[in-house]
Amino acid sequence: MPAHRRLHGPAEDLDRQDPEIRAARSGPRAERSEGVTAVAGGFGPLLPEERADAATLVRQGFGIPREYFDRSVELFGPGVMRGLRAGPEAGRAGQLVACAAVWPMDQWFGGRPVPSCGVAAVAVDPAERGRGYGTALMRGLLEEARAGGAALSVLYPATLPLYTRLGFGRGGVSFDWSAPPASLCAGPPPQDGWIRRADASDASHLAALRRSLLATANGLVERNEGLWSFALCPDGAPSDVYTLGGPAGPEGYVAVAPPTDRKLSVADLCLLSPRAVRLAQSFLAGYRAQVDRVSWRGGPDDPLALMAPDAGPRADARDEWLLRILDLRRALETRGYPPGVAGELTLDVSDAVIPENSGTFRLRLSDGTAVVDRVPEKTGGGGKAAGAGLSLSIAALSALYSGHKGPQILRQVGLLRGGEDAMALAARFFSGPAPWMPDRF
Ligand SMILES: CC(C)(COP(=O)(O)OP(=O)(O)OC[C@H]1O[C@@H](n2cnc3c(N)ncnc32)[C@H](O)[C@@H]1OP(=O)(O)O)[C@@H](O)C(=O)NCCC(=O)NCCS
Repeated sequence: MPAHRRLHGPAEDLDRQDPEIRAARSGPRAERSEGVTAVAGGFGPLLPEERADAATLVRQGFGIPREYFDRSVELFGPGVMRGLRAGPEAGRAGQLVACAAVWPMDQWFGGRPVPSCGVAAVAVDPAERGRGYGTALMRGLLEEARAGGAALSVLYPATLPLYTRLGFGRGGVSFDWSAPPASLCAGPPPQDGWIRRADASDASHLAALRRSLLATANGLVERNEGLWSFALCPDGAPSDVYTLGGPAGPEGYVAVAPPTDRKLSVADLCLLSPRAVRLAQSFLAGYRAQVDRVSWRGGPDDPLALMAPDAGPRADARDEWLLRILDLRRALETRGYPPGVAGELTLDVSDAVIPENSGTFRLRLSDGTAVVDRVPEKTGGGGKAAGAGLSLSIAALSALYSGHKGPQILRQVGLLRGGEDAMALAARFFSGPAPWMPDRF
């Protein structure tokens, strides 16, 4: 098929180009998944008597010791774990073969919270891998989360094909930054600023500060108790928290673990003003006699990296997290949009796993609010993108929705199709800060 045909052909052509959609729609994978889905009546909350088996799966999947598993389950609550049991075909009917953690949380886009579902610790019995259990478990999780009101699901992948095939797209990033402490220092701390040790056992004042960050960034999650604990006590030991402020009150905080092996690890960071950035710079530079490097997590537009007077900071790692739009209408209507942007965009979406998301939708935007209607087949053109319309898979829509990838690059690589008017409109609708999150789970 010539290239121009591929760019302008019907929606099914796009699916054929998109390996995850293609694979999810047909072929041996679908047959295999269906086979397992037939026995996936075994999906559901982890039973108390299965906890030791789940701990073994997670230990084999991630090398996580039992104490850490138990601590995480306590922090996130007993309802956090899900399990999948084998069916009669495996000769071990009813036994736990896979597990995962799942919890509800808000994830912020465009200045508004969107109900999302965090997924972690997806682990399949090493003796049963490659038989479709991971896929069946994930399908169970997605179905349950959508039914429970989640518009999105987010996870960090250890392997991509499993998740892309299920409609996850690239959602945003998480960077590991580091620098020699002296290279962060831009001079003496501001005269009108202060740094005070804070109570690390109560995160509510930190959550209040972090809220303004949620509203101005994209992709950050509102932390529950478990995520706060992971953020402030990354290795189980509490870090020390210092609030940074000025005459009007606190403007940020920095949480640091005790320095070890000539390294200082910043557990959590929230810098809401230029003064807070300068205070953090001088605070961290104060460790220059004790450590060779300071490390912290951030996004691509990290304030400490941006404001370092020297070329010291470097990105040591860049992890991408994946986003799955579970409920297209809810996801689009709940997020915020840039002020002053208005217009109407038609989205022709293919979703091989959640059929409710497939079809043609009209997205109308005004005053920062979106209204989404399904366009009936006969008037929508049945996949023929007309006027200001885009055709794309649900995975590509996730990348566009979060602002991680713009319409131009998605079209350039063949994940989206659309005319210039629709491209320009989509670029305006989904513009904003690059999505990131420091939390890893
Ligand atoms: C990754 C994992 C959950 C996949 O579960 P599974 O039951 O083996 O997966 P499925 O049989 O449903 O296969 C789905 C896809 O997962 C991937 N996969 C399968 N076995 C895998 C393995 N042993 N390691 C990594 N990926 C694997 C493949 O891409 C596969 O598709 P393909 O066979 O068409 O290439 C499982 O291998 C596991 O527990 N790994 C260790 C822990 C881990 O990495 N978890 C993921 C954290 S995000």
